[in-house]
Amino acid sequence: MSTFRIAVFASGDGSNFQAIVDQVHAGTLDVHIELLICDNKTAKVIQKAEEAGIDVFVFDPKAYESKQQYEAHIVEELKERNVALLVLAGYMRLLSSTLLTPYQGRVINIHPSLLPAFPGKNGLQDAMEYGVKVTGCTVHFVDDGMDSGPVIAQRVMDIKEEDTLALLSQKMKQLEHQLYPEVIQQCREGRIILKDRRVIVAKDIGGN
Ligand code: GRF
Repeated sequence: MSTFRIAVFASGDGSNFQAIVDQVHAGTLDVHIELLICDNKTAKVIQKAEEAGIDVFVFDPKAYESKQQYEAHIVEELKERNVALLVLAGYMRLLSSTLLTPYQGRVINIHPSLLPAFPGKNGLQDAMEYGVKVTGCTVHFVDDGMDSGPVIAQRVMDIKEEDTLALLSQKMKQLEHQLYPEVIQQCREGRIILKDRRVIVAKDIGGN
């Protein structure tokens, strides 16, 4: 199979980015991580990319006149590098049509709740405070809304009385680190397709 190039978008610590890198190194994920795209020059994920020898495109949104302008710059970079899939992993910005139109059906995100419940910045904390007994993580196609695109796969976990946010965050990261590389590999194999806002999965990968 020919090389399948991905770009990871992240703004923070980059534990999901690292999980993807690790699986590529282990040979269980057959993609080339072409680029990390980051909107925060102090983010820890940048160091992780540098250590792994992955190119980084860091930009300051404030240095551009508009979102359209910086997204156009990103698209230029992605096109030059022949990137096939955009993988959002803790990228704290909504995408506009400048990025979404040319990459229709080729942008995915991971979110720490069972969408459509608890979208937004604090998915896990919101679920905990609401008092739900089960939560989990979701990988979905990205549209221009907040965590609102068609769902690809989910993994679940229990919330127990004695659980703290710190403990649940740790468990959530473990779930995410398993699920995300798995979904990326399925995308790479052409098994996950978006058609008319419906996700078509060749093989069930959504179970636990
Ligand atoms: C993850 O919980 C992911 O679900 C959310 O942002 C967080 C990123 O964490 N979208 P990390 O930077 O990968 O550790």
